[in-house]
Amino acid sequence: PTEIKKIACIGAGYVGGPTMAVIAQQCPHIQVTVVDINPQRIADWNDEDLSKLPVYEPGLPEVVAEARGRNLFFSTDVEGAIRESEMIFISVNTPTKTYGVGKGMAADLKYVELCARQIAEVATSNKIVVEKSTLPVRTAQAIRTILDSSSINGDTGASNKKAQFAVLSNPEFLAEGTAITDLLHADRVLIGSEDSEGGKQAEQALANIYANWIPREQIITTRIWSSELSKLTANAFLAQRISSINSISALCERTGADVDEVARAIGMDSRIGSKFLKSSVGFGGSCFQKDILNLVYLCRHFNLPEVADYWEQVVTLNDYQKHRFAKQIIDSLFNTVSGKKISFLGWAFKKDTNDTRESAAIYVADELLQDRAEIHVYDPKVKAEQIYADLEYLQANRRNTTQENGQLSSEEIRQLVNVHQSPFDATQNAHAIAVLTEWDEFKTYDWQKIYDGMLKPAFIFDGRNILDREALKAIGFELTSIGKG
Ligand code: NAI
Repeated sequence: PTEIKKIACIGAGYVGGPTMAVIAQQCPHIQVTVVDINPQRIADWNDEDLSKLPVYEPGLPEVVAEARGRNLFFSTDVEGAIRESEMIFISVNTPTKTYGVGKGMAADLKYVELCARQIAEVATSNKIVVEKSTLPVRTAQAIRTILDSSSINGDTGASNKKAQFAVLSNPEFLAEGTAITDLLHADRVLIGSEDSEGGKQAEQALANIYANWIPREQIITTRIWSSELSKLTANAFLAQRISSINSISALCERTGADVDEVARAIGMDSRIGSKFLKSSVGFGGSCFQKDILNLVYLCRHFNLPEVADYWEQVVTLNDYQKHRFAKQIIDSLFNTVSGKKISFLGWAFKKDTNDTRESAAIYVADELLQDRAEIHVYDPKVKAEQIYADLEYLQANRRNTTQENGQLSSEEIRQLVNVHQSPFDATQNAHAIAVLTEWDEFKTYDWQKIYDGMLKPAFIFDGRNILDREALKAIGFELTSIGKG
């Protein structure tokens, strides 16, 4: 059918939750069911108290409030949702593999594969399967193989043809922190389809859903491989701009130039543009590093070593930027932070999200902990248990094993890291403050009060270049920013 009435989405995470909430809000005639194997996540999506939603996004509670219970449902009944719906989005996590072939580089597709198997097993009517997760090029082929082989009986080899499948690629380009605006006003929606009549029909069915609020000319269709590759390429280009300006920040510090002035000067060139030129302690988030490493892995696989090396350097430079920031803190504090109290303002990988995956804060904290610093964290949206879990995960899954970092036990981490409910508690008697996330509230604190509570000299390392340099220096802070010679 080209008019879909029931949708299921497998995976109620940062992408599945907000994306489906917006589809349900914009298409009251479509029933949308989001399912997940994590019962706590589903319970949180169903919580009466909208401040408990598992994903923090500005504008999300309002959208959920409007659609939930009307045509938006959250459930743990994965099989029921598959059986009932005509279109199924796969929006599960695709992290970097931590084991075996492609360890530390390739995308781990086990969750996606499990979804495909489950759909194949349960489906009794035709389904359009939509790849919403970010996947390596040609994954659609693997999904198709799994779906098709399901209609063949394992014992007898006979085909039972209970259902037919179409596979689409529909990568998501939203950014966390602005997900709702990005979904409502997407620059474009991308749909890749198989070159067959069924593929074209499925493509139309999905395009018709988006057309409820996205202008038709912004819904673009491509071959399925181009669509898959476009998502990896988009993230590689975005991350590359950050690594490019960060590489210049190091040169600015040596030469006396100011990276924000350089960024402004080059950004006004319409060929370059001003977005994604903000220098910082380095990019984080669950996607950029994972997707570039995946791209690099694909290039090596297809025997394109020069192309692989080119993109890998974007990640190498980002590691360097995080390391440089941590080293600057240690150097400035007279070459050791052992036993010193360092306050972290921010733990999330960017403002306006509670997501901490691959946050620069985790890596900077790890380096300071290696030198036995005492870290005191304040973040407006991140819970203490998440911070401990992030540090423990890093101990177990270090990508860069050439680093001479030792293992820290969970007990050591809990001894050395304290999480506070207020910025004033976190900075009381601190030797230094490091700003790791660009939360707006950090700009408007009573910095005189914070200064008065700190040990002197009072150091601040502004990893996001958001603080008022002149005002802080006038108070008496020793301020170090990124890329300011
Ligand atoms: P997430 O980790 O927040 O959510 C994934 C959810 O899938 C989890 O709740 C997990 O329990 C569930 N899940 C895993 N296997 C399952 C199964 N077999 N059955 C049912 N549920 C299952 O991940 P997130 O951030 O939403 O990312 C999903 C995909 O979207 C990834 O491929 C990612 O690369 C991509 N993406 C992410 C963006 C982001 O900003 N986070 C933006 C664009 C794409």
